[in-house]
Amino acid sequence: MPRISRDNSPTEIREILFKNPIIERNIKVQMESSMETNKLKTAALRGSFATGLGALVATLGSAVGLGNIWKFPYLTGANGGAAFIIIYTLSTLLVGLPVMIAEIMMGRKARANAIGTMQKLSPSKKQPWWIIGAMGALAAFMIMAFYSEVAGWVLAYIFKSLSGQILSTSPEVTSQAFVNLVSDPWQSLFWQWLVLAVVCLILVQGVSKGIEATTKRLIPLLFILLVIVDIRSLTLPGAGEGLRFLFTPDFSKITAVAVLTALGLAFFKLSAGMGTMVTYGSYWPDDQNIPLNTVRIMFSDLFVSILAGLAIFPAVFAFGFEAAAGPSLLFITIPAVFASMPFGNIVMVLFFILAAVAATGAMISLVEVPIAFLNEQFKLSRAKSAVLTTILIALVGSTAALSNSSLADFQLFGMNMFDLYDFVSSNILLPLGGLLVVIFVGWFWGDRKVKAALSNEGTLKNQAIIAAYTVIVKFISPVLLLVVMLRGLNLLPF
Ligand code: PFF
Repeated sequence: MPRISRDNSPTEIREILFKNPIIERNIKVQMESSMETNKLKTAALRGSFATGLGALVATLGSAVGLGNIWKFPYLTGANGGAAFIIIYTLSTLLVGLPVMIAEIMMGRKARANAIGTMQKLSPSKKQPWWIIGAMGALAAFMIMAFYSEVAGWVLAYIFKSLSGQILSTSPEVTSQAFVNLVSDPWQSLFWQWLVLAVVCLILVQGVSKGIEATTKRLIPLLFILLVIVDIRSLTLPGAGEGLRFLFTPDFSKITAVAVLTALGLAFFKLSAGMGTMVTYGSYWPDDQNIPLNTVRIMFSDLFVSILAGLAIFPAVFAFGFEAAAGPSLLFITIPAVFASMPFGNIVMVLFFILAAVAATGAMISLVEVPIAFLNEQFKLSRAKSAVLTTILIALVGSTAALSNSSLADFQLFGMNMFDLYDFVSSNILLPLGGLLVVIFVGWFWGDRKVKAALSNEGTLKNQAIIAAYTVIVKFISPVLLLVVMLRGLNLLPF
């Protein structure tokens, strides 16, 4: 090795030093460790899920919600049972899952909130892809406005079933109890704001200590409660009829409308199309296999929906109630069904607790979208961002809470505020957001980047899955999403 002498110029000295293997290694180690420290510092500043399992459970917590306990059963009931479940599963694979994968992948790559992610990943500053993120934040507000109200009713029902107020086998009586609740402005606001306060308290504690820690407790609790209610429902005499309804497909019931409803549900279920999965993806550890884990989440979510169906339909049929009762299935039919069975009161309390548990994981993921945005883009502290977001949602949400009482006559486009928020978010913002996401990933971001993101920079062997994904995201999902959206806007002839 050349020696350093007084005659060497500074450039020569540097070259000699760099050729020395020990010095070279030291420099490399120092650089790596400072990069590592930087990464850790950013992670600590913006928060992230501490473990792969935590990321998986928190994301499952977002997917599982009133969609499983409320929407899935009433839509399955109204659209003919098993055949609808098959169509719904296919829709999830072709639409919900591809968008979910796209969002998690983008968030993890950019490590930023929904709007910041689109700004970072956009191939050119001139292309306004950040609008997808902004639409997502808007959708989060609208969904929370009505979702927190339904969650409020669920909370109220825990107490009402504890006190025996809704314990009647007559749907007329349970229906009257429901009307009394929703038409009382103070009760409606009280329960909604209570729900929002709980959600805010969880979120103030941060990504790992708040979201991850809470969902890790809630998800197992949800499974245990569901299994208990399932056992009660399945051991009733006459439960077989409900099982047949859930598991024997009758494809004559499948109309174009049922298919489109299944597509819309697949989307809402996986919390896709509105920045939630981008935000959660930005907290996922780098070493997680995105395709594998999202498929796990999708099937676990489907499993929870089936368990909810098993809790509801065998009992509904055993006592001769109407399976196709629509949205009121949860609040009018279910109490009457439970009141008809031995130990019904306890089962009813457990059932509404489990619905509240499911709703909580979904709501914290919804509210996290604007919080992450305020926190990063406006440098507000997490606590301030959480309180500000909650107050704004409470204000917007009150208009939904009062839509059956003080604001019953206030209508826009022929809908009250509750229905309007549901309509605009589910029928316009979510499918449009999803459509733009798959167009961005399929056609603008670049196949090379998709491949790198889904194979963790080449360390995973996901080739076949990546090839299939590229085709689905480019051609199949966009077409299906366009159809869902046009149909949601009543622009299709069926
Ligand atoms: N996936 C939730 C459910 O099925 O109840 C609802 C939801 C949560 C939709 C979060 C959208 C979202 F961003």
